[in-house]
Amino acid sequence: MKKTGVIFDLDGVIVDTAKYHFLAWKNLADGLGFEFTEQHNELLKGVSRVRSLEILLDIGNVNISEEKKQEFLISKNEEYLKFITKMDASELLPGTEKLLDILDDLGVKYVLGSASKNAPLILKQVGIYDRFAGIVDGNSVSKAKPDPEVFLIGAQRLGVKPENCVVFEDAIAGIEAANTAQMVSVGIGDKDTLNEADFNFESLTEINTDVIKTLFSGKKKKEQSA
Ligand code: BG6
Ligand code: MG
Repeated sequence: MKKTGVIFDLDGVIVDTAKYHFLAWKNLADGLGFEFTEQHNELLKGVSRVRSLEILLDIGNVNISEEKKQEFLISKNEEYLKFITKMDASELLPGTEKLLDILDDLGVKYVLGSASKNAPLILKQVGIYDRFAGIVDGNSVSKAKPDPEVFLIGAQRLGVKPENCVVFEDAIAGIEAANTAQMVSVGIGDKDTLNEADFNFESLTEINTDVIKTLFSGKKKKEQSA
């Protein structure tokens, strides 16, 4: 049998940290005197911390020095960490542990492929850090999603060919990265938003052993929509 592996995105797939990113970014925007809405926050999903700040400053039409940007990156993360350090296993998104159990039973290894520099801390907070065969995060990549780098490094850590890797992602940039890497892309969340994915599910609760086997059968040929 071919050797297969799984790569999980973190934020929005395993944990719902978008709400904490939102509160921390909003705090910064409040201080700068402009409104930052949940809709604006959608634009930051899957995007690196530095890029997120640039998008936020564009929204507020704010021009600041490089030095000030560095200050804001630090203060935003300090604010975010206040929420993260309070997380526990109850914040794992439904279906996560069951899916990891299924993969363990099948002998399929999995790694993390996330843009977040806080990924190791978050996985430790929710108690599943030790289950991963490797962690590829914002500290290990030079190019952010939609560049495939994060997932290609993940495949190397797994020792699995990219085409035999399945990627679970909730962001458009992440699906694009997985597709570029020639991996099987699985969109978790809104089907219309993630319409470039090979497969779509509302949440990880829908992934059982049969589904896993289907996912490993390879990239889906796009069907003609009616
Ligand atoms: C991604 C999130 O997983 O990580 C983004 O979807 C976030 O919203 C990015 O900006 C970077 O996270 P962190 O924890 O390094 O600030
Ligand atoms: Mg995500």
